[in-house]
Amino acid sequence: MPVALDLVEDILRLKKEKNAVILAHNYQVGPIQDIADYVGDSLGLSYQARETDAEVIAFCGVHFMAETAKILNPDKTVVLPDKDAGCSLEQACPADQLEAYLKENEDKNYYVIAYINCSAGVKALCDVICTSGNAPLIVEKAPADRPILFVPDANLGQWVMEQTGRQMDLWQGSCYVHVEFTRDSIHKIKEEYPDALVVAHPECTQAVRLLADEVCSTEKMIHFCKSAPSDNIIVVTESGMLHRLRKECPDKNLIAGPTDNCACADCRYMKMNTLEKLHSCLENLSPQVEIPEDVRAKAEVSLLRMLEQSR
Ligand code: 13P
Ligand code: SF4
Repeated sequence: MPVALDLVEDILRLKKEKNAVILAHNYQVGPIQDIADYVGDSLGLSYQARETDAEVIAFCGVHFMAETAKILNPDKTVVLPDKDAGCSLEQACPADQLEAYLKENEDKNYYVIAYINCSAGVKALCDVICTSGNAPLIVEKAPADRPILFVPDANLGQWVMEQTGRQMDLWQGSCYVHVEFTRDSIHKIKEEYPDALVVAHPECTQAVRLLADEVCSTEKMIHFCKSAPSDNIIVVTESGMLHRLRKECPDKNLIAGPTDNCACADCRYMKMNTLEKLHSCLENLSPQVEIPEDVRAKAEVSLLRMLEQSR
């Protein structure tokens, strides 16, 4: 669909007028990725959010990502195109449930590692954050004499255990998009492209990960596809990833991983953002992310620990 040029121009005008930076996740729709100052995965976006000197951060992703930018920038204005853009992983682990669980299990003295796909309230309760781009590294740096509780993604947690050999207790959350890929759906597409390599996100189930040549974060998928020895690559993650990959690897045939019912998988939350809503949030500086200061300050400790440990 052609993108209205005057809308794009007006977003760029507002960006300048408000001294804003536009950060976008790899799953955003193409027109948003094309207008953003930076497009990346959760880890890269966290570093960008920490390093920007813009006064306003317009965060095109889901709510927990914009919240992460605010945790790191309490004095900046952080806006997002749609405040209802949530995440099934965030919903799977409400802060009050985690708090109650930790109280019930106080005797275990858990070291709590939270995948960044969680609320500020959960980040405030844990010791360190990780992303799919650094999870094995963060787990390897955990104290050897304490049991680990990993929240909220059980699939990512299981993959990290396989990578590191470290046992962890896993919160039973999952990404509703990535669990839609199945052994059958990947086998079927492999029949069509027998020589294709498969790259999958670690939020996929173990059955799917076992069929992959590489399991990695969205940003690492770019490096994998660029240097892959095969022209055909099946990309088992949310469909928005294909836009960035096709731009960065124009000589490859990048094939969306299918589910049992669809030719590709969309995250309905990521797809709530549109250029029109981006324009509106920049114009009105609303909706904004707000976090109670006591929660933000605690969440910042676990986030900064991650940023230090993954450099
Ligand atoms: P990445 O950090 O790998 O981009 O993953 C974020 C996400 O939400 C995956 O579903
Ligand atoms: Fe959350 Fe899954 Fe959407 Fe990523 S793809 S934002 S984990 S629901």
